[in-house]
Amino acid sequence: MASNHGLLILIKVLGLDVGIADGFAPRCPVHYDAIIFVSNCSLEGKIKRIGLCKVPSTALRRAVKIAPVAAVQVEYSPFVREIENSASQNLLATCRKLGIAIVCYCPLGRCLLTGNITSHDSFAADGTDLRSTHFPWFTEEKIAANVALVERFKGFAEKKGVSVGGRGFFFSIPGMWKVKYLEDNWGGKDVVLGKEEVAEIRMFVEENEVNGYRSVEMAKSFAYVDTREE
Ligand SMILES: *[C@@H]1O[C@H](CO)[C@@H](O)[C@H](O)[C@H]1NC(C)=O
Ligand SMILES: *[C@@H]1O[C@H](CO)[C@@H](O)[C@H](O)[C@H]1NC(C)=O
Repeated sequence: MASNHGLLILIKVLGLDVGIADGFAPRCPVHYDAIIFVSNCSLEGKIKRIGLCKVPSTALRRAVKIAPVAAVQVEYSPFVREIENSASQNLLATCRKLGIAIVCYCPLGRCLLTGNITSHDSFAADGTDLRSTHFPWFTEEKIAANVALVERFKGFAEKKGVSVGGRGFFFSIPGMWKVKYLEDNWGGKDVVLGKEEVAEIRMFVEENEVNGYRSVEMAKSFAYVDTREE
């Protein structure tokens, strides 16, 4: 971790050999230093490719002028689709246009979608699991509604004879996400969804939004914030 002109840069080295710059501060220019920093890491052979985390489209376009960006890391699941809409300035479409891979995290919605969280009591009572105390999806007042939502969502997986937490199920939804480099490892190819099924799932999640923010309040100030121009 390195702090650089007020930018907090967290380099995560994934198995993909992508160094990812994360946690951009809104007031800093362009991500310029961050890009130069990861680019330097790349030149020094510390990483093979450059990645960014949760950048909006405008910042990504500025970044690619400075150095080649191989991947953007984002949260993406049926209930978190910011990369498809204005919250991220349609980042998914921008990545497709620029030929940049999307690497998604929390595809199972921080375990909400595994179905093994059935009430607030699923968490240890001592509050050591921060989701139960700090993540709005799971707090006492919202969890019942969200569990009920997952219960209904389960129907789609059951029709295909897999569990809702079956990663194969989620990774087989075409057009919802593509994790090109991970795909083969996740076994999604066993579940095939037709166009109509995908449309039905999409309609369900668009009509039934999950209750509360997906992460801790503070995370809002780092997700898809644009930075000022250099
Ligand atoms: C990148 O590397 C150059 C050359 O070594 C160095 O002068 C510069 O300070 C580095 N920049 C960052 C942001 O790490
Ligand atoms: C739910 O399942 C996941 C994955 O097996 C596990 O890590 C987690 O501890 C379980 N329980 C809760 C409350 O998330």
